[in-house]
Amino acid sequence: MPHFHNAKNSQRMSDSQGFGATRSGRHFLQVPGPTNVPDRVLLAMARPTMDHRSAAFSELTLEILPRLQKVFNATGPAIMFPSSATGAWEASIVNTLSPGDKVLMFDSGVFAGNWKTIAERYGLDIDLVACDWRVGVDPNVIEDKLKADTGHAIKAVMVVHNETSTGITNAIADARAAIDAASHPALYLVDAVSSGGSIEIRHDDWKIDVIVTGSQKGLMLPPGLSFNIVSEKALAMSESSRLPCSYWDWRDMVKANETGFFPYTPATNLMYGLLEALKMMEAEGMAAIYARHARHGEATRRALAAWGVENFCTVPEKSSNTVTAVKMPDGHNADELRKIISDRFDMSLGAGLGPLAGNVFRIGHLGDFNDLTLLGTLAGVEMGLSLAGVPANSGGVAAAMQYLAETAN
Ligand SMILES: Cc1ncc(COP(=O)(O)O)c(C=O)c1O
Repeated sequence: MPHFHNAKNSQRMSDSQGFGATRSGRHFLQVPGPTNVPDRVLLAMARPTMDHRSAAFSELTLEILPRLQKVFNATGPAIMFPSSATGAWEASIVNTLSPGDKVLMFDSGVFAGNWKTIAERYGLDIDLVACDWRVGVDPNVIEDKLKADTGHAIKAVMVVHNETSTGITNAIADARAAIDAASHPALYLVDAVSSGGSIEIRHDDWKIDVIVTGSQKGLMLPPGLSFNIVSEKALAMSESSRLPCSYWDWRDMVKANETGFFPYTPATNLMYGLLEALKMMEAEGMAAIYARHARHGEATRRALAAWGVENFCTVPEKSSNTVTAVKMPDGHNADELRKIISDRFDMSLGAGLGPLAGNVFRIGHLGDFNDLTLLGTLAGVEMGLSLAGVPANSGGVAAAMQYLAETAN
């Protein structure tokens, strides 16, 4: 029998020692999601499950929804599904589009590719723009493609804001400006799964029609909730779109949500946690949260520079403030390094995904995170690089410390 958590003696399971084994101290969960869940949020969820048809539950929903809108600077509906973010990807498609519709997508990384696979499975006609994965999406291509589409065959432009597999943040406001420059009516769908709540995204100002996101990253919750933040234009499209849509139907959700209810059983305890997380975010303030992530992103990049290892992202202004993908020197395997770090220091780092497997490891620096969490994380990486015999200088942690100290106020 695996034993899960023994609060009495502060022991807990560790993935590095196998299910049921225990190690002292706190595991460093530095994958770019799921992220560390603050104790306040864990405690908020540790409550009896409530009747989801009660007045108290309706109050909970109605406390959550406007706060979610605020996080995304949105006035349109925030819709919550009991699913991983992949469900919200699917929802963004099936509510707005019809079989054979043309969409503009970008081969900018593993997650962009996974979203494209869903679009393919629904029979959409995809104009897939090839990208250098180390550079990301070029908004000029959007403008050119849309200007050339004089018949307005393209029904949606679909961009991943923060590509978690490459550590690149695409310029969502610039992509909007490109759509406007072409005076094109296409919907604008944006994956903000690993940026939402960590890197600024402005639903209304950037005229985004659907933001797709999930609970387990910047929102500091366990996996299990996903979100669509929807514009009036997208909502109107849901009346005429002809892709099969049932579980994901926004119309059922929006109608039930008006009174604080859901068309099916919601993830009640995750919602207790969500309200707590949103209150924490409200107290810190979104500008401060973005600045905190930017500062930790920069400190991480300074550590990389001091180690002399390469950031996978080659465009400095597009380096992600939530995840840094580190390119391994030739002849060295990222998974071997990650195993050493996991075994010796009880820290989980993100693997290289898809074609990047073994060539890249990813440091997650998002969510419930502070200066010392970052320094502990970087210390684990620096020691791991040395133990794994990867050619890297020491001094990365010192460089990050210096930057953090200089910018402490
Ligand atoms: C950018 C991005 N989009 C979508 C997903 C898919 O989310 P989920 O695994 O919750 O379905 C992820 C997951 O890491 C992601 O990073």
